[in-house]
Amino acid sequence: MNVTVRGRPQPFRTVSFDAATNSVRLIEQRLLPHEFKIIGTKNFRETARAITDMVVRGAGAIGATAAYGLAQGALAFRGRDQKKFSAHLELVYQTLAAARPTAVDPVNAMNDVRRELARGETVEEQQALALAAAEEFANEDVRHCEAIGRHGAKLIRAGMKILTHCNAGWLAFVDVGSATAPLYAAQAQGKKFHMFCDETRPRLQGATLTAWELAQQNISHEIIADNAAGHLMQRGEIDLVIVGSDRTLGRTGEVANKIGTYTKAVLAARHKTPFYVAIPLSTIDWNLKSGEKIPIEDRHENEVLGAWGAIANPLSESRPALSGRRVYIRVANPTSAARNPGFDVTPAELITGIITPAGIFKPPELWPHRHQLGYAD
Ligand code: MRU
Repeated sequence: MNVTVRGRPQPFRTVSFDAATNSVRLIEQRLLPHEFKIIGTKNFRETARAITDMVVRGAGAIGATAAYGLAQGALAFRGRDQKKFSAHLELVYQTLAAARPTAVDPVNAMNDVRRELARGETVEEQQALALAAAEEFANEDVRHCEAIGRHGAKLIRAGMKILTHCNAGWLAFVDVGSATAPLYAAQAQGKKFHMFCDETRPRLQGATLTAWELAQQNISHEIIADNAAGHLMQRGEIDLVIVGSDRTLGRTGEVANKIGTYTKAVLAARHKTPFYVAIPLSTIDWNLKSGEKIPIEDRHENEVLGAWGAIANPLSESRPALSGRRVYIRVANPTSAARNPGFDVTPAELITGIITPAGIFKPPELWPHRHQLGYAD
């Protein structure tokens, strides 16, 4: 998507690969919205750390990062010994897979890369195939998000007020985004609508990333406190909810997504507000049989006990200084501990529909349409 840098809109991808330096190029998302910066990781361990530390985050984006990280690790191998190469690849795979546990996209992406590289006979051939497969995963992620946009735009009518949670925008993918794809497509069709962005404590991806994206694309929006959605729904001020997912179970239709998604789904059901989840095919887990089995990431308590931000300009409360200086403010009682589950699981019966690149399905329809949705026997 376009980002206005020094007054000029320029197209960027969230994740890309620089073959000349064998590095994964990432938008440093922890600095947004105060500073726009691209960093490069030097090796697969740095790439895994960028995922863990949330330099890059969002299921599709960490999927592409893991795919490129596996190719990066493969390309760094020196020698022709197939056995040593396979052992090295396994280490790279496991390191990247362990970086964050809830999203299934990194595992699906790396499995694609591994499957492709297995077609090569020499180490050199396999290295080239790994990079080509990672590039293909990234390009497919973009195509899937565009297709989600085409299907999802039909749900958006002019004048609607739409709620989203966390960031399932282009920053959470390689480009376009999942929950934002219908918005960008509807905007391109000339529809005018208004977005509410849940701020999404504790890391505030809604207030920082989604709001920044929507501002860059000139989409009317307001940030709301996480607790405000119920009140707005009760007053008839939210017509539609669209969120993303880190792992959607193909067998049950259950959806893991950012903590607080379940709460919004319960509220939406109470107020008969349509609740949609937008996903590329790489977010579907065809193996797990129950949402209880989804690994939920427990993150550091400091995320709940405080918050990161930029120092505000004391002369203008509404405009933070764009110094890019990121500070952590301790908010909570200094002697208290905190619990910080990063994700929750929304049951299928609370979900109106799942917007996929192949169309919109009710959660129980995923399994009967599994072949259309990329399931391989
Ligand atoms: O912890 P994050 O910022 O990686 O969580 C991201 C989300 O929960 C998104 O909503 C999710 O990845 C779905 S969109 C890719």
